[in-house]
Amino acid sequence: MKIISGPASSELAERVANITGYQSVPVVSKIFPDGELYVRLEGNVSGEEVVIIQTTCPPMQDSKLFQLAFMADAAKCAGANKVMAVVPYFAYARQDKLFLLGEGMSVGTIVRMLGAAGIEGLLTVNIHSASALSGVPFFARSVSAISVLAAYFVDKGYAEAYALAPDKGAMYIAQEAQQVLGGGVGYLSKVRDRYTGQTEQSAEGLDVEGKTVIVFDDIISTGGTIVGAAKILKEQGAERVFAACVHPLLIGDAAKRILDAGVEDIVGTDSVPGPYSKVSLAPLISRQLKALDSV
Ligand code: R5P
Repeated sequence: MKIISGPASSELAERVANITGYQSVPVVSKIFPDGELYVRLEGNVSGEEVVIIQTTCPPMQDSKLFQLAFMADAAKCAGANKVMAVVPYFAYARQDKLFLLGEGMSVGTIVRMLGAAGIEGLLTVNIHSASALSGVPFFARSVSAISVLAAYFVDKGYAEAYALAPDKGAMYIAQEAQQVLGGGVGYLSKVRDRYTGQTEQSAEGLDVEGKTVIVFDDIISTGGTIVGAAKILKEQGAERVFAACVHPLLIGDAAKRILDAGVEDIVGTDSVPGPYSKVSLAPLISRQLKALDSV
């Protein structure tokens, strides 16, 4: 197996190559003056099984998706035997249903596009909804990094912290964290207006007074969900509040607004490289690739 080091995840790809011992293939990328993208694989992949590691987070997620498709096609053109993709943050995964009349299912379009480019296997991390991968006509798996995030807090001395899901749908995430932390677990209610995107949160029967609470979510985007959760937690007497997520998109001034709301720290993974990407997915991805390689 060889690792193709996608431009959007080159550090993560190098870490995976170091852990697994798989050779990494660098990629030259550039943007033409007219804005079109160019990629070139700088290594021999003929007859090889290759894994492209490329996240598709903002900014410019569409360009990252096109780079991914172009790298897959380049690998096929160069004679790769099999092309897999590790896409830690999978763009458009939240558009996995027809919420309003007239919409399309964007994530399905992306998957078909990647398949057409030559991708024959897909590994992602905490995809927003598992249904986004149902019906994908090739191997596709989402693995969870929540226990790795929870372990980070245990290492920092916050074992027994309360794991909170900011909405009921994320309760499975909080429960996964609780397995590692060993403290309490609960969730807030959240209702989103499908037209404005505005959300409203509320708490029922939370027992967080005097406790350290870690809010676990798959994604932090604008930060609105975490800011709302922090406000409720403070009102309910939580002593310390932290935010943990797999995908720290942190759009605009999201991080500042979260910290201003009394959250002590934001901990995310390198699915989205940035100042809050404190936990690397490399060991988790490496284990998955080794397991797939041995099948
Ligand atoms: C939604 O269901 C997700 O799990 C996250 O809670 C949401 O995407 C976070 O978005 P924001 O940070 O904009 O509130």
